[in-house]
Amino acid sequence: KDVYAVIGHPIAHSKSPIIHAYFAKQTNQSIHYGRIFSELNAFKETVEQFFARGGKGLNITVPFKLEAYELAQKKTETAKLAQAANVLWYKDGELWCDNTDGAGLTRDLQRLLKHQGASLNHAKVLILGAGGAAQGVIEPLMLEKVGQITIANRTFAKAQQLVEQFKQSATSAQVLLEAIEIQDLAQSDRDSSDAFDLIINATASGLGDASPISKELLKAISNSKTLAYDMVYGKETRFMQDARELGLKASDGLGMLVEQAALAFETWRNFKGADSTLDIDGAIAAV
Ligand code: ATR
Repeated sequence: KDVYAVIGHPIAHSKSPIIHAYFAKQTNQSIHYGRIFSELNAFKETVEQFFARGGKGLNITVPFKLEAYELAQKKTETAKLAQAANVLWYKDGELWCDNTDGAGLTRDLQRLLKHQGASLNHAKVLILGAGGAAQGVIEPLMLEKVGQITIANRTFAKAQQLVEQFKQSATSAQVLLEAIEIQDLAQSDRDSSDAFDLIINATASGLGDASPISKELLKAISNSKTLAYDMVYGKETRFMQDARELGLKASDGLGMLVEQAALAFETWRNFKGADSTLDIDGAIAAV
């Protein structure tokens, strides 16, 4: 059996083994996929040991994605854009890395929006938060040719920093990129045509029991077609509950996890370009 694993710190709760086992079964592949815990200062050794023993591929999760990127000898364009990697494998004697998180998110968003007869193309997107999670979604959204990205954060300066960082790519992608303090979303003179098509909660607030914006504010900046997306999974957050109570469509980030796994599986098992072969809905239901 070919051996794969996900490596992280912590790792016990990772759902990746379930997802990969599902895809393997669906496509009649004989693989073993496990979980590896790495000490914070031992990532490189752990990875080298895994491949020295014949391991075929690794998924990388928090907090090792930067280190994985630096460790690899060959990097895909997507990994270079993100400067971080969540997939490692050997090809022709060289260690390759890729980043499938961004495409995983946009594939999930496109799938959800399609149900509503919408797409990311020209969409008005609001990102709540300006930390690592928010930073990782900006390039992938621009690749899908969204029309506008508004970054709203509790701390305005951090939103402003992200806008600075991505200003050039936004100009070449013809995306309107702007920063705002979350509270100021309420003050701008809005009419219903100003509603966002997509609101992504990329703050860490869902881990507690709060939403980064009040229900009233969420109502003021959305309409019945708005998709509310929380990047965390495994939990119905306050943000998602509010959205549903307002009649919006809401989703957690489980589909993103499944899609990034599907993209890694396709690379490892040579299913490249075969988007439709893997049963995404089935895998989401299985975890
Ligand atoms: P991650 O890598 O998960 O994005 P991070 O870099 O620590 O984590 O960023 C956390 C983000 O969640 C920040 O945008 C933070 O806002 P501040 O920059 O103002 O701190 C946001 N955040 C965390 N808790 C929040 C809360 N209760 N309400 C609103 N925003 C919150």
